[in-house]
Amino acid sequence: MAKYILAIDQGTTGSTALVVSLEGKTLGRYNTEFPQHFPKPGWVEHDAREIWASVVTAVNQALAAAKVDSKDIAAIGITNQRETTLVWDRATGEPIARAIVWQCRRTADTCDRLKAEGHEPRVRERTGLVIDAYFSGTKIAWLLDHVEGARARAERGELAFGTIDTFLVHKLTKGAVHATDVTNASRTMLMNLARTEWDPELCELLNVPDAVLPTIVGSAEVVGTTRGVGFLPDGIPIAGIAGDQQAALFGQACFGEGDAKCTYGTGAFALMNIGARPVWSTHGLVTTVAWKVDGEVTYALEGSAFIAGAAVQWLRDGLGIIRSAGEVEELARKVGSSDGVAFVPALAGLGAPYWDQGARGTIVGLTRGTTAAHIARATLEGIAFQVWDLLRAMTKDAKREVVKLRVDGGAVQNDLLMQLQADIAHVTVERPMEIESTGRGAAMLAAVGAGLARMAELTNRVQVEKRFEPQVGEADRAAMLSRWNDAISRARSVIA
Ligand code: G3P
Repeated sequence: MAKYILAIDQGTTGSTALVVSLEGKTLGRYNTEFPQHFPKPGWVEHDAREIWASVVTAVNQALAAAKVDSKDIAAIGITNQRETTLVWDRATGEPIARAIVWQCRRTADTCDRLKAEGHEPRVRERTGLVIDAYFSGTKIAWLLDHVEGARARAERGELAFGTIDTFLVHKLTKGAVHATDVTNASRTMLMNLARTEWDPELCELLNVPDAVLPTIVGSAEVVGTTRGVGFLPDGIPIAGIAGDQQAALFGQACFGEGDAKCTYGTGAFALMNIGARPVWSTHGLVTTVAWKVDGEVTYALEGSAFIAGAAVQWLRDGLGIIRSAGEVEELARKVGSSDGVAFVPALAGLGAPYWDQGARGTIVGLTRGTTAAHIARATLEGIAFQVWDLLRAMTKDAKREVVKLRVDGGAVQNDLLMQLQADIAHVTVERPMEIESTGRGAAMLAAVGAGLARMAELTNRVQVEKRFEPQVGEADRAAMLSRWNDAISRARSVIA
């Protein structure tokens, strides 16, 4: 009897595969990066063939690392970078162009026009999202309008749209299944959030023909089985799918209303489980589907800061004050405080809760006594302050305090960052033993979808490795927060 779950985590900069036992133990893991394409300033593209090649490598290497035979895989779970948009030919499976990545700003003008025409309230009410180039809808129309003949072919039903989950299902089933899970669909600006169905009026508004859209499925159900993949045997059920932030929420077992997690990667993504009814944010967050399991939809409030770990990369690559990202903690620990220096890492504008595309990275409070250590410390504080901004907005929208924050992602190995997060947000920060919650969440969804586990049994899969309690005094905290708010006002664009 097959005994393992294969989780595929297809992220923005790399693909990771995990081989997980039915008891939830990670037995093998492999991550591999793939090329990023930047054809113009502000544009970001991925080549679907390069993505697929990286997935194939990651799966083969993870199986080898786990010493598991592919015929022993009981189910596959998929999690993915969200919003990234691909259109392919239904007959050949060939993409009509490179994928437009979530970070790509090429449709910002379209979004500005839609906002100027007064569509934002309706889009927000229907989808839970703000109008922004981040989401897939305007990217689909861009591809159909800029690739020769694409719109006519789409109208004739010859083309298929998919986010990366859809593309992987297509590849794994040799084109037999065209489906997206409800969490990914909730990031397109085309799905009615309350009904979890495509919204015909929004499709018309964004100029997306319904003939290109995939079927929306639940996050833990068998959507198809492998066929003709080559490196995997036929007949393995694809039993779980979720966008990466939702998968991390599931992987952290945030199953109760009010449970919150933050994933620290390139950016920082904070999500709070808000239960079976959507809450519409009035404080700059978006509302999204957390998962749909056993026919029941759970919603989440989400706030994303576009730059988190990327700020540390900038210290390395832009400023050259560290040689590797891991060195930032040691450098920042050389000083006991940032000594009045504040860094707003708005290196790609500001996401939630400000949504200010024109904001710029800003360092304030420099003196002749400022050293690289102060800037390193201010960078870590800047990451933690951004997350505090998200949690504060969540508290107001959900009308419940966040008292405990579960954390995951590469940057959480940094103890100083975690302590600063606890101090600044005045929360208990819980770091799990296994910080790869995204892939683990996909594996857990697949286990549920394949009938190998029940959701209620999964809570004890997450073990806390370390808790960080707030240690800073109220007066010191108030001073830090006011410095941050001042720095934010200086980073904002003048036209915002
Ligand atoms: O919304 C974008 C997010 O899903 C990307 O996550 O971890 O691939 O950068 P990541």
